[in-house]
Amino acid sequence: MGLPRLVCAFLFAACCCCRRATGVPGEEKQPAPTPDLVEAEVGRTALLKCGPSHSSGNFSHVDWFLIHKERQIPIFRVRQGQGQNEPGEYEHRLKLHEGSGDTLALSQVTPHDERMFLCKSKRPRLQDHYIKLQVYKAPEEPTIQANAVGIHVDRQELREVATCVGRNGYPIPQVIWYKNGRPLQEEENRVHIQSSQIVESSGLYTLQSVLNAQLVKEDKDAQFYCELSYRLPSGNRMKESREVTVPVFYPAEKVWVEVEPSGLLKEGDHVKIRCLTDGNPQPHFTINKQNSSTGEMEEETTDENGILFLEPAQKQHSGLYQCQSLDLETMTTLSSDPQELLVNYVSDVQVNPTAPEAQEGDSLTLTCEAESNQDLEFKWLRDKTGQLLGKGPVLQLNNLKREAGGRYLCMASVPNVPELNRTQPVSVGIFGSPWMALKERKVWVQENAMLNLSCEASGHPQPTISWNVNGSATAWNPDPQTVVSTLNVLVTPELLETGAECTATNSLGSNSTIIILKLVTLTTLTPDFSQTTGLSTSTASSHTRANSTSTEKKLPQPDSKGVVIVAVIVCILVLAVLGATLYFFYKKGKLPCGRSGKQEITMPPTRKSDFVVEVKSDKLPEEMALLQGSSGDKRAPGDQGEKYIDLRN
Ligand SMILES: *[C@@H]1O[C@H](CO)[C@@H](O)[C@H](O)[C@H]1NC(C)=O
Ligand SMILES: *[C@@H]1O[C@H](CO)[C@@H](O)[C@H](O)[C@H]1NC(C)=O
Ligand SMILES: *[C@@H]1O[C@H](CO)[C@@H](O)[C@H](O)[C@H]1NC(C)=O
Ligand SMILES: *[C@@H]1O[C@H](CO)[C@@H](O)[C@H](O)[C@H]1NC(C)=O
Ligand SMILES: *[C@@H]1O[C@H](CO)[C@@H](O)[C@H](O)[C@H]1NC(C)=O
Ligand SMILES: *[C@@H]1O[C@H](CO)[C@@H](O)[C@H](O)[C@H]1NC(C)=O
Ligand SMILES: *[C@@H]1O[C@H](CO)[C@@H](O)[C@H](O)[C@H]1NC(C)=O
Repeated sequence: MGLPRLVCAFLFAACCCCRRATGVPGEEKQPAPTPDLVEAEVGRTALLKCGPSHSSGNFSHVDWFLIHKERQIPIFRVRQGQGQNEPGEYEHRLKLHEGSGDTLALSQVTPHDERMFLCKSKRPRLQDHYIKLQVYKAPEEPTIQANAVGIHVDRQELREVATCVGRNGYPIPQVIWYKNGRPLQEEENRVHIQSSQIVESSGLYTLQSVLNAQLVKEDKDAQFYCELSYRLPSGNRMKESREVTVPVFYPAEKVWVEVEPSGLLKEGDHVKIRCLTDGNPQPHFTINKQNSSTGEMEEETTDENGILFLEPAQKQHSGLYQCQSLDLETMTTLSSDPQELLVNYVSDVQVNPTAPEAQEGDSLTLTCEAESNQDLEFKWLRDKTGQLLGKGPVLQLNNLKREAGGRYLCMASVPNVPELNRTQPVSVGIFGSPWMALKERKVWVQENAMLNLSCEASGHPQPTISWNVNGSATAWNPDPQTVVSTLNVLVTPELLETGAECTATNSLGSNSTIIILKLVTLTTLTPDFSQTTGLSTSTASSHTRANSTSTEKKLPQPDSKGVVIVAVIVCILVLAVLGATLYFFYKKGKLPCGRSGKQEITMPPTRKSDFVVEVKSDKLPEEMALLQGSSGDKRAPGDQGEKYIDLRN
């Protein structure tokens, strides 16, 4: 026991001598035991404890000092258990912690407080106690700026890839660069990382790190990011920047033709032909097409982006296309393999005879012709009904009836190319006197309104229509055998009485339709309403034949219309009362509803979203504490753990 003490005393003395001998400035000092380390985050309160952490007692006479340039500057003292600030830098930020005499609370810690503090206790008499305050501050989320100009791979030198900045950290954070999730190491002539920092007036550091590298073609899609590792009293942390890519330029080795859309093309398609290379950026291109008669390649006119539009594609666009690229950087020319382009087509369809006509009971033969680069399929259809009458280029019609008159269609299509077809109509005339679409019609009208009456007749030769009332009539022909006449008249009492009659006449006879006008009697109808009724009646009748025949049925009875309106209003009222009653009972809790159903019904959307926000804000402080200093973290926790280990090493 005695010997070690003796050795100690000797060493102590020797040490003191040394200090004197080397002439260290400042006061005479006892050798300080290793200082206590106190860690605090910027802005928080640091607790400086005078003496070992387990010591307790009545510290009634203590002096606190700040060690500055080897000098002891008094900052605080305790007399009879009462704390007193010394004037100076720390005058306003120090106080005794919760009344205990031995712990000093330093509030609003800044990086400037990273100093050595000394505590001298006279009562109880203790050894001088040194405390080193270590200050930490998480840097802000790092920002990253990629080289926007781009990098050429053929230049054998390091280029600036990206710059990363982490603001206001303490102490200086460590930066690690990543490419595609893997950390980058310094490598001669390949990777160089240049980091610098500035001290802000607050004492915090702003770190700037520049990644210089020589990139290769494969780096064109590489994702770069930087990571800042730093320490807080609670442990090691890190923050990551977002990922950036850098434009990488490299010459083309191959050029090819691309046609859009891919697959079978047909006339009328919107076709885009363009050139592509495996280089970046795309060089200047020309598109050539082979002249089928001379066999020479001739340049096509493209738009400013070098794209050739065939809009619409036509059969003469078929042929061989080739791309040529010129790299202005290297002045090298590349040519693509020629690519065959085929625009499938069907020519105009011809039906013979062009204007077939026959007597009732006769026969007719229709033939259809078209040309295509592909095999064709022919179909015969009835125009009105779309009914399929036969396949093949010839249609035989035997024992013709009146009804067989009218339009037929021949469709030539290419089964191999979807939607490639052409159609030609042909009108078959069966000789006969006019045939009325309707023998009799009823029209609901209002007195003194302008009205359009329509009448349709067919026959061969084509009939003409005349009216027995004065008015302006217009006629049109849906097909060569049919005529539709529309008469615009004023509804007068005389007209109501007599009605109207239209007569169709051709060289073989005449036929007529009687139109009976009925007055709308419902008084509750507004003039507007009736007007629109009249209008819809007449327009429908004047434009579509099929509709004109059904106008009569479509027009609702005026009486029934009134009934319908009343019925709808009553229904709405009943529903409203029913809804209100149900809601009342539900509110009273008398209606048994399922748990989930109840929530769905009662909670309006706005309240539901409020609820979600509430839940979030409840969790927020917790999450913030957990996430503090690592909010930029996007990677797996395991990954992060590894980085912590790295840091400690
Ligand atoms: C501590 O010291 C103060 C003043 O010297 C005295 O009033 C107080 O009773 C003491 N407390 C204890 C627990 O010794
Ligand atoms: C093909 O070349 C001949 C002869 O030079 C020319 O008359 C013709 O217009 C060219 N054809 C096309 C499609 O350019
Ligand atoms: C005929 O071609 C048109 C487009 O031109 C298409 O919409 C239609 O479906 C085609 N009909 C058949 C039967 O292929
Ligand atoms: C007039 O047309 C009707 C069809 O609306 C038809 O039944 C009648 O036979 C035709 N009369 C004559 C003489 O053709
Ligand atoms: C049609 O008007 C003319 C005069 O414009 C008149 O002579 C003729 O009687 C009118 N016919 C009918 C049916 O109203
Ligand atoms: C009658 O038809 C003509 C032309 O078809 C149209 O301009 C006019 O508005 C129509 N009148 C009524 C009342 O429907
Ligand atoms: C009647 O006309 C309407 C449009 O006004 C149309 O959608 C409908 O297909 C037509 N009905 C018939 C049988 O032509």
